[in-house]
Amino acid sequence: MKKRISIFASGSGSNAEEFFKHFQNHPSVEIVSVFTNNKSAGVIERASRYHIPHHVYNRTFWQTGDVILDILAEEKVDYIVLAGFMLLIPQALVKQYSDRIFNIHPALLPKFGGQGMYGSNVHKAVKAAGESESGITIHFVNEEYDRGTIIYQESCALSPEDSAEEIAAKVLKLEHKNYPKVVEQEVLK
Ligand code: GRF
Repeated sequence: MKKRISIFASGSGSNAEEFFKHFQNHPSVEIVSVFTNNKSAGVIERASRYHIPHHVYNRTFWQTGDVILDILAEEKVDYIVLAGFMLLIPQALVKQYSDRIFNIHPALLPKFGGQGMYGSNVHKAVKAAGESESGITIHFVNEEYDRGTIIYQESCALSPEDSAEEIAAKVLKLEHKNYPKVVEQEVLK
């Protein structure tokens, strides 16, 4: 029986697409669906290209998570991967999928994490702090923002001239290179 993964994404979905590619025809892992809260998210078109079904549910549905949990059960989802998902995961879901929800944070936690630290805010903060490196943190999701067990980190060097956008581009490269591989290793443990 293959391990079944659902991806939650709110935006462009470039990380999600790396998962679609990585697990296409994989012998023991399958991406079974995509959930989004944003009906114009780029991830929808990307999922369609790989024939992966998607579900769009607005913010209201993410408050309790009941409907989402029902669908995840129907689809027999084993693991959830957050790839740029912008809403808080409901408690019921975190409980049900304890240590089975992955997130990637575009900085080296515990630095530059917590509420408000998402997207370009993170890279602007890294720049403002004059850091000589940034990177990625792949971690499990628990009740608090960015505080779940860390599974993997990788850093990249920054130069003082790097703009926040350039930092973002360096970090995104690391995300694409590592996120599917690290999740694969974890789910096949
Ligand atoms: C990534 O930087 C990820 O770390 C962050 O949101 C961005 C998502 O980009 N949480 P994409 O939608 O995968 O292109």
